[in-house]
Amino acid sequence: MFLARLPLLLLPLLSFFLCRPASAILCHPEDKEVLLRIKSSFNSPYILPSWDPNTDCCYCWLNLTGPIPSFLGQLKNLTQLDLSFNKLTGSIPDSLSTIPGLGYIGLDRNQLTGKIPASLANLKGNNLYLILSHNSLSGELPATFAGVDFGKLDLSRNRLQGDASLLFGGSKRTSDIDISRNQFEFDLSTVEFNESLWWLYLYMNHNKIYGSIPKAVAGLELQFLNVSYNRLCGEIPVGGRLQSFDYTAYFHNRCLCGAPLDSCK
Ligand SMILES: *[C@@H]1O[C@H](CO)[C@@H](O)[C@H](O)[C@H]1NC(C)=O
Ligand SMILES: *[C@@H]1O[C@H](CO)[C@@H](O)[C@H](O)[C@H]1NC(C)=O
Ligand SMILES: *[C@@H]1O[C@H](CO)[C@@H](O)[C@H](O)[C@H]1NC(C)=O
Ligand SMILES: *[C@@H]1O[C@H](CO)[C@@H](O)[C@H](O)[C@H]1NC(C)=O
Repeated sequence: MFLARLPLLLLPLLSFFLCRPASAILCHPEDKEVLLRIKSSFNSPYILPSWDPNTDCCYCWLNLTGPIPSFLGQLKNLTQLDLSFNKLTGSIPDSLSTIPGLGYIGLDRNQLTGKIPASLANLKGNNLYLILSHNSLSGELPATFAGVDFGKLDLSRNRLQGDASLLFGGSKRTSDIDISRNQFEFDLSTVEFNESLWWLYLYMNHNKIYGSIPKAVAGLELQFLNVSYNRLCGEIPVGGRLQSFDYTAYFHNRCLCGAPLDSCK
């Protein structure tokens, strides 16, 4: 069994699968079973006291440092990986894409660098929740993401660049996208949305997005929109919920105008 070969150094990392902030979702029962099995393979050492099969996930914070080990790809039954709120460094290992049922990847609030691996698009079977916010990821988005319908995609507060319009499109079903606080640069005028989405959350603030807000956005079931601090121009389309958002959802653009901002000249 591969676990026999694990360096003891990795023990705290394994334990962290069961340690997450109180606000986060609880462990998947199958993960828990696998993890408890890992625990017993280590003779239930006292440094993992929180691995109690009678309780749900523990609420603790470990300051994990170092890279995400690529051996995680060997945990083939893993469905959720939450390593958020640590101090992990290095890049996201390609091997995560070899876990067939992985449906939730939470690596937010670490110090990860490098590009987002293109191979993560292979996990597209399961309405993947990919939460990578608050890191130092850089470079362009992998082109493979054009073919993925994420359940939720949060890339906010990184150093990502280039075209993020590949995340959108008339046939896309992703309804919760946060690309805010990056350096994305693309023309919003040409972006299409699926008009039959039942809800849509779009966080795009603090980028270098240019062009105008497409008229079709007025026909969407928008729950939330923030396009502030970009380089947009032109009139905010009238209709839908677009005028119900606070002016701060639109301010600090190049020449965006119309309600709830000042009227166009
Ligand atoms: C993690 O690090 C922070 C800041 O260095 C510290 O305040 C906190 O107590 C540490 N938490 C644990 C569980 O060690
Ligand atoms: C993984 O899942 C399969 C099928 O559900 C099961 O047979 C196997 O025992 C599981 N492996 C582990 C390590 O839990
Ligand atoms: C929009 O989404 C709906 C529901 O998910 C889907 O049935 C439809 O085919 C999509 N539209 C396009 C143009 O792909
Ligand atoms: C939009 O984002 C800006 C910048 O982050 C923020 O100041 C503003 O409060 C946000 N507005 C809304 C309506 O969320």
